[in-house]
Amino acid sequence: MRAIIGTWKMSFAGVSEAFDMLKNGVPAGEAAVHAVKTVEDNPAFRSVGFGGLPGRDGRVTLDAAFMDGRTLRMGGVMSVENIQNPILAAYRLCGRPTNCLLAGRGAEEFAVREGLPLRDMRTPDSMKQWAETVSKRSDMPLDAYRGHDTVCVLALDDSGNMAAGTSTSGLFMKEPGRVGDTPLIGSGFYCDARFGAAAATGVGEDIMRGCLSYEIVSRMRKGETPREACQNALDELVKRKLELGEEAGNISLIALSPDGMFGAATTLSVFPFAAGNEKNAALYMIENLQNSVIEPVNEEKLAGTD
Ligand code: GLY
Repeated sequence: MRAIIGTWKMSFAGVSEAFDMLKNGVPAGEAAVHAVKTVEDNPAFRSVGFGGLPGRDGRVTLDAAFMDGRTLRMGGVMSVENIQNPILAAYRLCGRPTNCLLAGRGAEEFAVREGLPLRDMRTPDSMKQWAETVSKRSDMPLDAYRGHDTVCVLALDDSGNMAAGTSTSGLFMKEPGRVGDTPLIGSGFYCDARFGAAAATGVGEDIMRGCLSYEIVSRMRKGETPREACQNALDELVKRKLELGEEAGNISLIALSPDGMFGAATTLSVFPFAAGNEKNAALYMIENLQNSVIEPVNEEKLAGTD
């Protein structure tokens, strides 16, 4: 059995290619990394990799992680500026018994030692967006929560192994040094090939409060389907936030089980994602409703969504 799921419409091309790789016997880890890298390389996707969203100081700093579901090992990088593909650095760090999560300069030195390509990750478009925002607004910190989304990919291969990969530039106009959930095991991602894999996109500060990816996999271990586990984990955190007088916020979740079933949940009105577990990968969406049905949708239906 092979299957794959990735967040947002932007993951569709990479997820489709990665699904074909899985069909050709490529391991889950390599397939997941390929799908994430495809998004990192495309400057049209403004919240991940090359051309990602700058922070308040105009620097583009990136976070990424990878987890192997058979060994429970993970690798991650955070606050890196010049690594062309943060997911490749995370993948190479996975398997190390110590020093598997590196930040800033240390992560970049690791990438150099590994011979990974470096690049100025800023683009004229990303710097224009930053300059326009700075010139229009004086009340720092700015409303950082628009136009920000993480690519997360979960894969299952024919051998039964599973993998998770994540990558983001984090919140637009974030404070220097800010890191979200994306490189943090249990929050932005979790993967145990015995029970399933999960990942999160949205505002990291909220996702971390519920350790949502670990919570979802834990629920699958107890018998919930991926869809139930995503919805129940989300509902629990949202209920607590509402009790605290807060809004539900911006959180979307995906999950994949060892038998190839996938699920999702969201606080947004619509959350699009890409997935495949039969012939081909397709675009899907879920709505912010308890009984929202997950089914393939066409681009037209998703017009106007990320
Ligand atoms: N979810 C990504 C971040 O908050 O940085």
